[in-house]
Amino acid sequence: MEATRGEGMISRSAEADMIRHIGILTGGGDAPGLNAVIRAFTKYGVSRYDWSVVGICDAFNGLIEVPHRVVRLDLPGCQGLLQRGGTILGTTNRGDPFSWPLPSGERVDRTEALLTGMRDLGLEGLVCLGGEGTQAIAWRLSQELGIKVIGVPKTIDNDLDATDLTFGFQSAVDIATEALDRLHTTAESHDRVMILEVMGRDAGHIALSAGIAGGADAILLPEVEWDPRRVADKILARRSVGRPFSVIVIAEGALPMPESAAEAAVPRWERIRNGGGAGAIAMRRLLAVVDAEMRLTVLGHLQRGGSPAPFDRVLATRFGVVAVDLIAAGRWGEMVRLHHGVVDGVPLPDAISRYRTVDLTGELVRTAEAVGITLGRPGRPATQQDVP
Ligand code: F6P
Repeated sequence: MEATRGEGMISRSAEADMIRHIGILTGGGDAPGLNAVIRAFTKYGVSRYDWSVVGICDAFNGLIEVPHRVVRLDLPGCQGLLQRGGTILGTTNRGDPFSWPLPSGERVDRTEALLTGMRDLGLEGLVCLGGEGTQAIAWRLSQELGIKVIGVPKTIDNDLDATDLTFGFQSAVDIATEALDRLHTTAESHDRVMILEVMGRDAGHIALSAGIAGGADAILLPEVEWDPRRVADKILARRSVGRPFSVIVIAEGALPMPESAAEAAVPRWERIRNGGGAGAIAMRRLLAVVDAEMRLTVLGHLQRGGSPAPFDRVLATRFGVVAVDLIAAGRWGEMVRLHHGVVDGVPLPDAISRYRTVDLTGELVRTAEAVGITLGRPGRPATQQDVP
């Protein structure tokens, strides 16, 4: 028997007929679209295969702790989930069963308790929604304990190389773009330089996309140790053609070139923490080289909260449906992903092995620089620098 989906159709194995109880959980930071995946998985799994879907609360913790914390997911329970932000199951990034934190601060292995939890609940497999950390745990559980797992990738940072896109990213970009639009009008009214700090510790995808969409004048990425003079040149070039205001978007992991060898020796996150955050550091370094009135806005978790953008609702729904297809086909140990426009599965070890940062030689960076946005790249010729 075969599942009747079109492109990317996944064959159904005889195993599908034996499956009855599947657990689903969300781990790591939340992202808009998690509930849409839970909804799609439940709707399709229940209506097509008559599975019993059990939601596990707070990542793996709901299985490990006694009494277990779980919710039965059924069709009526899916109402209103598509557009709901956060995760109805709760989540944590402090629940690694291989290194589980006790109140004393000590860490212990709780995988036996997790296995017992699975047996108590009669679960045959686990669908793990999460980022790289959660997927790595899922893979270890399958390898070391023989637990059947399926991964569904999630991160607003869009930094998992195995999938072209993760849900939550577009929602974050929409919010950051709206913030830039709003900063533009006030920047223009006051002839100010407005800096917007967005999320992205090691990868600047949100800053890059929102910066292009929001018409930023400078985009500062964790991938580039930016030169304050290059950004100052941009501010001054705009001023010289009657545009006395500028808007800058900076990722939370972006740092300027160090001012001394001693500074360069300090680990990146320590420099950022000591400096009060990437945006605050940027403001100080820019004020040292250009005379301008500046203001900083840190967007923070506004990028992660709230309703998913329509694009993310669609992607999350596709991920949920294909997660069901993979289980029905007996393809445990795989992660759902978007690849060349089609949602399919990829073996988990491949999915967790590569991290994607912004490609500085890529088309998106070229596009940004072609329309005059500076990345503050040191030593770059001033091509397009004068486009106001
Ligand atoms: O990985 C997602 C993310 O939102 C990052 O962009 C950000 O640096 C981090 O999580 C924030 O984590 P927390 O919510 O634990 O402060």
